[in-house]
Amino acid sequence: MDRFVIRGGNPLVGTVTVSGSKNSALPCMAAAILTEDEIVLENIPQVRDIDTERKLLASMGAVLHIGEGSNSGQTTISCRNLSDPIARYEIVKTMRASSLVLGPLIARTGMARVAMPGGCAIGARPIDLHIKGLEKMGAEIAQEHGYLEARASRLHGANIVFEKITVTGTEDLLMAAVLAEGETVMENCAREPEVTDLAALLTAMGAKIEGAGRSTIRVQGVERLGGARYRINPDRIEAGTLMIAGAITQGDLIISNCATAHLHAIVYAMRRVGAIVDVLGPDSMRVRGTDRFRGADVSTEEYPGFPTDMQAQYMALTTQAKGISRITENIFENRFMHVQELVRMGANIRVEGKTAIVQGPARLSSAAVMCSDLRASASLVLAALVADGETVIDRVYHMDRGYEHIEQKLSSVGAQIQRMGNLFDPGEA
Ligand code: UD1
Repeated sequence: MDRFVIRGGNPLVGTVTVSGSKNSALPCMAAAILTEDEIVLENIPQVRDIDTERKLLASMGAVLHIGEGSNSGQTTISCRNLSDPIARYEIVKTMRASSLVLGPLIARTGMARVAMPGGCAIGARPIDLHIKGLEKMGAEIAQEHGYLEARASRLHGANIVFEKITVTGTEDLLMAAVLAEGETVMENCAREPEVTDLAALLTAMGAKIEGAGRSTIRVQGVERLGGARYRINPDRIEAGTLMIAGAITQGDLIISNCATAHLHAIVYAMRRVGAIVDVLGPDSMRVRGTDRFRGADVSTEEYPGFPTDMQAQYMALTTQAKGISRITENIFENRFMHVQELVRMGANIRVEGKTAIVQGPARLSSAAVMCSDLRASASLVLAALVADGETVIDRVYHMDRGYEHIEQKLSSVGAQIQRMGNLFDPGEA
């Protein structure tokens, strides 16, 4: 199990480039299941969740080819022979987004066997809305031995109203609807840019979709889909994390290759705290910090609101702001695992229900801390960048799930960060 050793205190100065979006790449890779032809995806980030999805697809019979050298961001997927339409527990348990294969498998093969994802570090994360939607489209789904067993001769169109906005739920049902017979109307859909990315790929494959990025999506099912080549959009959460790295270290960072149109809520929140953010164009921005940050409240919401995936990183920033910041988590229960680790580094934070109350500014000091989930680990790295002394962050495999070469990116702009293997550890849990 690797650890990061970070010596805080250096302002980050220079230019960093954002990688492709993990959360767009995952559904786009699952969409390859929908066709016998080849799907070529570009700008795929090299992160652990993507490796997991490659393994998942390969275990079902897909043939994948990863580009080399300057083409390393390219993955070609052929699902001509899906000999084994099963998502096994060994893979699903490490990545909840594996449930994204459910819709496309039923749509393409008429059957699917997908392990139920377990509970997860950020609260119970059910997939009941995926199941209800697929049943409305004619699938018969039973649960046995921890697996969902789904069957349908051919899915049919349906009117689906999501009781709650769900990102992967919207994506899963969208992938089912594109091959269903007739029209599907989905209401109360997620409007995240990752849904729009997936819809753009599906459209390039021949799907008929109207309204992606809005609450109501209409799909006219088609008989078959063909191959396509598609470039994944930049990762807005990585961009936001790097923006906070520039601000919290009182640095001066240019964030390049980011889709600034997707970052409004993050830019707004950072400006309220006192960071200087200049949008330089559609794909770059400049972020500068100050020694006079002021506390500001934030509540997480579905897109276009402030993303839950930025809550932990924003909390690290507010530890350096004068006054009180109330941070309310509305999307997931139990997503404050980073609080106790930030407190161990000297932050003054108390949790009341779904709100964390941060009193700043705090002088952070190095400590041995542990990552508990992907975004919590990012908040610890950000805190370590301004802490006195050397912080050791354990279990960085959580960070590796979603951030590509993060230590190289941060050290290229002046951070003192090193990855160390842990010789005494027999391996990752
Ligand atoms: C996706 C993102 C994740 C992000 C989250 C919210 C991917 C791979 N992951 O996760 O990074 O934090 O959106 O922006 O894109 N819910 C139900 N029943 C369901 C599905 C969801 O009750 O069937 C609930 C969840 O428990 C949660 C809320 O709906 O409280 C939102 O979850 P959802 O949008 O589905 O999150 P994911 O798609 O898993």
